[in-house]
Amino acid sequence: MLERFIKKEETAAKHEEAFVGEKENLPAHIAIIMDGNGRWAKQKGLPRIAGHREGMKVINKVVREANHIGIKYLTLYAFSTENWKRPKAEVDFLMRLPEKFLHKELPSLKENNVRVTIMGTLDGLPSYTIDAVKKAVEETKENNGLVLNLALNYGSRHEMIRMVKEACREVQEGKQSIEDIDENYLSQFLLSSKLPDPDLLIRTSGEIRLSNFMLWQVAYSEFWFTNVLWPDFSEEDLVEAIRVYQKRKRRYGGV
Ligand code: FPP
Repeated sequence: MLERFIKKEETAAKHEEAFVGEKENLPAHIAIIMDGNGRWAKQKGLPRIAGHREGMKVINKVVREANHIGIKYLTLYAFSTENWKRPKAEVDFLMRLPEKFLHKELPSLKENNVRVTIMGTLDGLPSYTIDAVKKAVEETKENNGLVLNLALNYGSRHEMIRMVKEACREVQEGKQSIEDIDENYLSQFLLSSKLPDPDLLIRTSGEIRLSNFMLWQVAYSEFWFTNVLWPDFSEEDLVEAIRVYQKRKRRYGGV
């Protein structure tokens, strides 16, 4: 027990040390596509849901580390609008995860000044999922630490269709002229309108694609891909991604 405590303290100290004097150029917003749960489970001869269960545990580690480093926003792709195509038992299991995670972790999220927000369509989710996330959003709304933005039943194209519809409605009602439609105007209708665009996008498991995730918002994000499967993702991997980001030069189309 004592050994484990000492090891934990050492790890914390190591991370502290790693970032001393190197807090410049930190990404304010990190978005993560947490991929590879199924493959992780398969490699171990376990059912896919075991991978999701393990993946859920990693969230806690990553939130703590991100908060500790001073990241302001962390968006996690937890369930996409396309994930409904999976076998019913897997979908049912995934739908229980926010409830399980928040039941266990909400007290410590509150203690650590984390604010939980949700990005996605709540319609169509089971009531226990909606209740759990609404409770977390409500009970953390006054916090001003890390924003943990859970993308749940989220799909970027769906979000953009909604954005276009909102804009058309305003034009139709005479509140908005077509000529004045610009990026700023449209982005107020994004589900992430209260968050800055991600600076750094991480995807685990070796897949190099966006899978309908924040397509508008990642226009100028830096991407970092790793072969590590999400259940194996560690604090060190997060630190490595941030380190790589810190060395990159962002030009936003300029020189
Ligand atoms: C992708 O791996 C992962 C998901 C579709 C679900 C991710 C969800 C979690 C990590 C837990 C969510 C928990 C909370 C609290 C929001 P995959 O199943 O596609 O893996 P594979 O590509 O190896 O099959």
